[in-house]
Amino acid sequence: KANQMWGGRFSAGPDAIMEAINASIGYDKRLAAQDIAGSRAHASMLAATGIITDKDAEAIREGLLTVLSEIEGGTFEFSAALEDIHMNVEARLKEVVGEAAGRLHTARSRNDQVATDFRLWVRDQFDAAEQGLTALMQALLVQAEQGAGWVMPGFTHLQTAQPVTWGHHMMAYVEMFARDRSRVRDARARMNECPLGSAALAGTSFPIDRDMTAKALGFDRPTANSLDAVSDRDFALEFLGVASICAMHLSRLSEELVIWSSAQFRFVTMSDRFSTGSSIMPQKKNPDAAELIRAKVGRIFGAQTALMMVMKGLPLAYSKDMQEDKEQVFDAADNWMLALAAMTGMIADLTANRDALQAAAGAGFSTATDLADWLVRELGLPFREAHHVTGALVAMAEQKGCDLPELSIDDLRSVHDGITSAVFDVLGVHNSVASRTSYGGTAPEQVRAQVARWKDALA
Ligand code: ARG
Repeated sequence: KANQMWGGRFSAGPDAIMEAINASIGYDKRLAAQDIAGSRAHASMLAATGIITDKDAEAIREGLLTVLSEIEGGTFEFSAALEDIHMNVEARLKEVVGEAAGRLHTARSRNDQVATDFRLWVRDQFDAAEQGLTALMQALLVQAEQGAGWVMPGFTHLQTAQPVTWGHHMMAYVEMFARDRSRVRDARARMNECPLGSAALAGTSFPIDRDMTAKALGFDRPTANSLDAVSDRDFALEFLGVASICAMHLSRLSEELVIWSSAQFRFVTMSDRFSTGSSIMPQKKNPDAAELIRAKVGRIFGAQTALMMVMKGLPLAYSKDMQEDKEQVFDAADNWMLALAAMTGMIADLTANRDALQAAAGAGFSTATDLADWLVRELGLPFREAHHVTGALVAMAEQKGCDLPELSIDDLRSVHDGITSAVFDVLGVHNSVASRTSYGGTAPEQVRAQVARWKDALA
């Protein structure tokens, strides 16, 4: 039997394999609420412009609410023969309200319909991401405020570099997630245009009011080119791009949590609520949530690559290839939101081990730069020479198996006789971090200023 929606010219229905490859209802049912909101706005506009009667529009709007409650209540029977959410909803609407249902698709195509539905869905996800990012930033701020003055090693090449503060390290992630949040806002503002009324590709001869539907659906304006509007998936790609960069940040933080929670580092203790055990090794407490976030990032990157590949060869306007946009975005969105929530939970529950951080902060000659700077400042050495002198002292300490502050004044003077015991002031890690008061630096006072700035901004 030919398709009831578009089968006029067909004498036979589709092969089972055709139906299987064509149907998207298995996943695009997630667009039901958006589809019904779009159709209700369209029906109201059709009546306001005199294209259909108020009576028909009212029947359609009411009927759509009935369909929505059936879907939400789980009693709706989805049909693969009806391909997608759009035709499933409309077919059911016809059963509910009769003939009026057939007037809903006036001046509309599934091409502008799906573009509208999908934009609405992605827009909600941008909003959810903004909320998730704000919650994560707040959790990081609590950590940063508490440990604004706690010293820890800062690394480059994962080798001890200079002492930093725990608060400073936490605030580095606040900056990253703040940029993600600002990318979310930018992308959301750019995508908030309504494709509805572009019809199949060329617009329509009916006297529609696109401003009215755009406004009813919370869009800033209608899209300006009907060909572009039905073939554009930039908003989905930008969503995946923003998600990818944020996921990359989440993955870097996950990697640090995995390293820091190891017995060799012991910088942090994860809460039981965000750890798992081993079925054979009784001592184990594993950072699985961090590992899974690190892994899920791969799906998000993959989704962006996949959709780029789908889009890159398509001539204007709509091609069915574009139906492959949804699963990628759904999967990426689900995993992004989950990763944000899991990271927020882990950070909120995390215990930073102040003593272990401090013990590690001084190891590995972390104040060598402070020593070199002292030689420049106090003895007037050129920095290159000070670097050399300090290098010789590091070699000496390494040979003796001690850290720089443990060298005696005689040891120090054997390399450069201008050195005085005042140098010991700068060899301590607390003095080291306290001295780095340049804007954005690791000094506790700088960190506290940044914490205060962000607390204000998020309040
Ligand atoms: N299920 C389709 C999609 O997701 C809806 C648009 C179909 N348009 C068409 N002309 N066949 O892309």
